[in-house]
Amino acid sequence: MPKMVFIERDGSHKEVDAPLGLSVLEIAHRNNVDIEGACEGSLACATCHVVVDATWYEKLNEASEDEEDMLDLAFGLTRTSRLGCQLIITDALDGLTVTLPGSSPSMLMD
Ligand code: FES
Repeated sequence: MPKMVFIERDGSHKEVDAPLGLSVLEIAHRNNVDIEGACEGSLACATCHVVVDATWYEKLNEASEDEEDMLDLAFGLTRTSRLGCQLIITDALDGLTVTLPGSSPSMLMD
């Protein structure tokens, strides 16, 4: 089974199972990762915002126009921001790493 990693707001890394076909938002909810996802994936909020690791960002399908519009409303938007409910796990995304927005950088640099 693919895995993915959430980097939480305190900088800790949480590696979890990432079943094929589930969204990053659904996986977060299954694993008690603190992403809200208020609209349950219907592109009507931006509370499922995650910051994707730069190397992974290149491998994702491009965001739809609706996703881009919603992302503009997200708090703490970055160049590699996406909406977690729109990221669906495939084999190619095994190891996907995303950071919860507002995280403080890890103090453990070495
Ligand atoms: S859960 Fe609302 S846009 Fe993703």
